[in-house]
Amino acid sequence: VEVDPFDIIVFGATGDLSQRKLIPALYHRDQAGQIPADARVIGTSRRPLSNEDFVADARKSVLAHVDPGDIEEEALARFLSRLSYVAVDAAAERGWSDLVAHVGLDPERIRLFYLATSPDFFGPICTNLGKCGLAAGNGRVVIEKPIGKDLDSARRVNAAIGAVFPEDRVYRIDHYLGKETVQNLMALRFANALFEPLWNSAHIDHVQITVAETLGVESRAGYYDTAGALRDMVQNHMLQLLCQVAMEPPRSLAADAVRDEKLKVLTSLKPIDESNADHLTVRGQYRAGASAGGAVGGYLEDLGSSTSNTETFVAIKAEIGNWRWAGVPFYLRTGKRLAARVSEIVVAFKDIPHSMFDETAGRISPNRLVIRLQPDEGVRLWLMIKDPGPGGMRLQYIPLDMSFAKAFNVRNPDAYERLIMDVVRGNQSLFMRRDEVEAAWTWIDPILETWKAHKEAPKGYTSGTWGPTAAVALIERDGRTWHEDD
Ligand code: BG6
Repeated sequence: VEVDPFDIIVFGATGDLSQRKLIPALYHRDQAGQIPADARVIGTSRRPLSNEDFVADARKSVLAHVDPGDIEEEALARFLSRLSYVAVDAAAERGWSDLVAHVGLDPERIRLFYLATSPDFFGPICTNLGKCGLAAGNGRVVIEKPIGKDLDSARRVNAAIGAVFPEDRVYRIDHYLGKETVQNLMALRFANALFEPLWNSAHIDHVQITVAETLGVESRAGYYDTAGALRDMVQNHMLQLLCQVAMEPPRSLAADAVRDEKLKVLTSLKPIDESNADHLTVRGQYRAGASAGGAVGGYLEDLGSSTSNTETFVAIKAEIGNWRWAGVPFYLRTGKRLAARVSEIVVAFKDIPHSMFDETAGRISPNRLVIRLQPDEGVRLWLMIKDPGPGGMRLQYIPLDMSFAKAFNVRNPDAYERLIMDVVRGNQSLFMRRDEVEAAWTWIDPILETWKAHKEAPKGYTSGTWGPTAAVALIERDGRTWHEDD
């Protein structure tokens, strides 16, 4: 479905996010016929650059990041004809009047300002957008994490943006919310009668959320070393996933109905602080090892430094202090250079109350619902069934398997495609509200403070493994194990 005419103005247009994600996503939407004829994509950055060079770079990034089967010369030419470039010094005076002249101040026109820059520029860019009149009317701003590095700094960033753009025109992206399976979780929970009656502490033993990567910090070591896994992944993506699993049914899909429920989850998380952080959290840092069949160096080598206390792995046992979830642990773990690239949510149900089967039946494992985000998006429900044949009552643990790739023969759009179009449509459901971001920091801050005060070095783990052994101990001392889905 075509959307209303719009201009998207990308700050940091020559940077990595823009070239790797935004330009290819816009090409895909254009190819699908969703972008109106007169929509424009306007790149800006500090660097002087001709339109031709900007277009040539964009062409390269489409060719590099779009599946060759999806490249159509005609569609690509049409997309590239929408592109133009204006050099703007985001934090200073230079270039803003050129930008105004180029974009125009039509009060009706949707102007989408995508700040694909370092977060240090979020405030100054918004201030300048306000001053030059571009923010007014139908201007919308899109920002990415990190929004601050703790509660105080997040409040400052939000205040600087909020001084120019009202909250209903601020879109804080968490690209995990744009992933197909994350949205499917809403469908699974609330479009089926089957799960919701069981979705509570009476029937669920625990929940696991794993976001494991095989990559190291690559070229981002500079940023990463100031952040670490807790800020980079848990404060945003992992807590958003936890909210999707744990929230009460919202009354509708309206943005604030959903966000109100997520906020309640975040504010119900039991504090992890000095009194319990050593017991409930594990930090790790990768050492040399192997990844994807090849030998790889450790984090310190990637960083080019001999010391760093930054964690590249974190595991946490979290708990939500409300009626539905009391006593149900949520085990979270995420890390770089782990054994496999896999992101999944595992809802582990309780044991059956009584077994009528004898030992020949074999072990009865409790049901598990596994929601796989990547790779191989899909849902698996692990059940006990009878082994077919006349061999008596032997039981097997087998998944009822729904792989989305097999079920639907369609390309799985990248999260950014959906999210950018949602901004144009004015739909904020998949974006984080200011109070959500701040509530997440409120929970994260005492963990960071405790780690800092205790000055304990992260535990080393060999690249290509599942992280430090302490993370295994974290769950095993409760008599549970990390899920292996095969
Ligand atoms: C980003 C983090 O937000 O998410 C990265 O900053 C991480 O460190 C990435 O690699 C993971 O995203 P995805 O979509 O590849 O799972």
